[in-house]
Amino acid sequence: MDAGGKPLQIAGMFELKPPDFADKAEAYAALESEFRALLHGERDFIANCANTSALLWHSLPDLNWAGFYRHVNGQLVLGPFQGKPACVRIQLGKGVCGMAAATRQTVVVPDVHQFPGHIACDAASKSEIVVPLLKNGRLLGVLDLDSPKPNRFDTADQAGLEKIAAMLLATSE
Ligand code: SME
Repeated sequence: MDAGGKPLQIAGMFELKPPDFADKAEAYAALESEFRALLHGERDFIANCANTSALLWHSLPDLNWAGFYRHVNGQLVLGPFQGKPACVRIQLGKGVCGMAAATRQTVVVPDVHQFPGHIACDAASKSEIVVPLLKNGRLLGVLDLDSPKPNRFDTADQAGLEKIAAMLLATSE
């Protein structure tokens, strides 16, 4: 945002200002303003997922994957993401993503090697957080972040990412 509260968009370019994550709560608050500007006026869900994954990837430290799986015909299907190519289809209840989708709860995994059924798309992943995307009781998909650091995601990350997921969902039809 500029001083007048207008989105920082110059000739189609979005100015990224990665926040300082020394104070996570403050950093997520700053990120929320960036999101508001980034998603402003756009209702296309895939486009907004794509930009959300890009903004998270460039803003959050210590990630090796950031992206979405969409809920299509009872399965999770790979959506927009940043990071290495990943498995395309995940059954509900399988892996961390399938668990978050089936339970409709955020799942935080401090050590993926201790999570029964973890699906390893990138051998570098050590910890993971998956936030379900629920719109009016309907499961639209999940937001998935992986880290090469063990125990990377805490309750501040969960709160911040759930807020960002809610902002994303608010833009969709
Ligand atoms: N690890 C996930 C699979 C998706 S990748 O991390 C991108 C899981 O166990 O569901």
